[in-house]
Amino acid sequence: MYSKKLMDHFQNPRNVGEIPDADGVGVEGNPVCGDVMKLFIKVDSGKIVDAKFQTFGCGAAIAVSSMITEMAKGKTLEEARAITKQSVADALDGLPAQKMHCSNLGADALHKAIDDYNAKKTGS
Ligand code: FES
Repeated sequence: MYSKKLMDHFQNPRNVGEIPDADGVGVEGNPVCGDVMKLFIKVDSGKIVDAKFQTFGCGAAIAVSSMITEMAKGKTLEEARAITKQSVADALDGLPAQKMHCSNLGADALHKAIDDYNAKKTGS
């Protein structure tokens, strides 16, 4: 039911933790299951140079968090914003249909972290 890649990212999640001096933080919760994801980004010259996460959630949510932080690193903010729940699911070699909402959590947390960075930068 779960791909090998998903199981790998669930069992050996990358980028777990927090970035104390993060440039942007995004928090997203899933009202259906109650799972919560917090995503931190560090930005330099318009690029995401580091990303970490703390997720209280199901296995798929952990794997999504791990993969999305890997995908975001090295990307410009525009490129990272283009990451969707579908592209994360594809990168994990697919998610079961009933678990697609878990990848939504990751994409939304990343987009919120970018919004937070932009808001801090413009001081709004
Ligand atoms: Fe809640 Fe997966 S069941 S995020």
